[in-house]
Amino acid sequence: MDNGLPTSIVIFGASGDLAQRKLVPSLFNLCRKGRMPKQFRIVGYGNTAFSDDQFRAHLEEGVKQFASFEFKPDEWAAFAPTLAYQQGRYTDLADFKNLSGFLSKWEEGFGNRIYYMATPPGVFPNIVDLLGLTGQLDESNGWRRVVIEKPFGTDYASARSLNEQIHKTLNERQIYRIDHYLGKETVQNILVTRFANTIFEPLWNRNYIDHVEITVAEQVGVEHRARFYDGVGVLRDMFQNHLLQLMTLVAMEPPASFDATALRNEKVKVLSSIRPMKEADVIQNTVRAQYQGYRQEEGVQTESTTPTYAAVKLQIDNWRWQGVPFYLRSGKKLKEKLSQITIEFKEPPHLLFPNAKEHITPNMLVLYLQPDEGVHWRFEAKVPDTASQLRSVDMEFHYADSFGKTAIPEAYERLLLDTITGDASLFTRADEVETAWGIIDPIISAWDSPDRSQPLAFYEPGSWGPAEADAMLGRDGRKWSTWDGRKE
Ligand code: BG6
Repeated sequence: MDNGLPTSIVIFGASGDLAQRKLVPSLFNLCRKGRMPKQFRIVGYGNTAFSDDQFRAHLEEGVKQFASFEFKPDEWAAFAPTLAYQQGRYTDLADFKNLSGFLSKWEEGFGNRIYYMATPPGVFPNIVDLLGLTGQLDESNGWRRVVIEKPFGTDYASARSLNEQIHKTLNERQIYRIDHYLGKETVQNILVTRFANTIFEPLWNRNYIDHVEITVAEQVGVEHRARFYDGVGVLRDMFQNHLLQLMTLVAMEPPASFDATALRNEKVKVLSSIRPMKEADVIQNTVRAQYQGYRQEEGVQTESTTPTYAAVKLQIDNWRWQGVPFYLRSGKKLKEKLSQITIEFKEPPHLLFPNAKEHITPNMLVLYLQPDEGVHWRFEAKVPDTASQLRSVDMEFHYADSFGKTAIPEAYERLLLDTITGDASLFTRADEVETAWGIIDPIISAWDSPDRSQPLAFYEPGSWGPAEADAMLGRDGRKWSTWDGRKE
């Protein structure tokens, strides 16, 4: 909680995209809402030579371009003096000593600090080491917290070794690993839907749920990030973190309380119960694909086999979920930007109505995470003026209708505020990240195995992905749901 000390937020990699598009607009908005500590300062650190004024002008541009709220010059004029810049390298002891001196001078001896790693991941351990060597992680005069952006490692071994390296200097309670999906309102609402209502939880298990689908579709392609993305691919970029996090929230047991330890313990239990895939399972239960034209994108290797789309079927081996498949899919250059979770219930056990001889469309609960945030509940109704004809109808909740069009803040706002207040519930713990890599690693290694037994599929930009993904569900007698929740 707020100990009344001045708070410094140091952003490493401050001249980059993330600071300009997300971090500073979010901090500015928190300030407009009166949620920042009484005394705070945002210090950018990076290689680029910026004066304070140039740094401020660069960020003002970012706010004008990327913030979701109206830019008001007087508000910016009040906020801009909290921004300062320190030029420095990520590997130089003298530069870190300068930073330390700069921060201590403003703090006058006592102050809290957040160090935000918005740099390429290769330098995370260096920065932590140098902060430690220059005494900047010492907590005698105020707390010290370190925020680490994704990607956290590229596989289980590298994530573990990164954890080991940073644990030499930091306690786990000081580390805030970001997964920005957890900062999204609609993602937090998964737990509220489940645990602040009594009508869903009794049905939330293998007795009533047929399967779960998690879709995170993007309309954009690889854009200017090919240098990073081509070596990474969709499983590392989206599944290890965002999709598996969504899955844990859908599948976890109710925690005893809403505190970070209780919540994260339950998430780790889910991840540990996901059945690890063997190579033969990978062929049956995954699809990897690339959008046509990807190899012609700037910065992509001409022979690249990097998947830009994947579909994965996972099973959770526990009492609640045994036999209920979780189908996860995500890709770039798809038809629409949308993230949704579909819970499909089982068909009624007895077919009573003469016009529904074959089967009755199962009930569905669809959690729309973005862009039209809401929750839809699909159930069967009798078509008026017929003897017993049935049709599916929807009950819809849209955030925009209930809370207003601008009610949903940027995910980073919530995450930055939680870092300031010291609430780590929405950040991933060391064991959680490692366990998630343990699920992804066997899939990637089967995909990369020399016999290439599973071919790379291709899909048209603007489609819903490759036919192979439909076939994967088809083998189970199922279909993916579409944007409006209907089955294609
Ligand atoms: C990031 C990925 O973590 O999430 C990007 O690195 C992806 O490739 C992005 O585009 C999607 O986030 P959102 O919030 O736009 O769904």
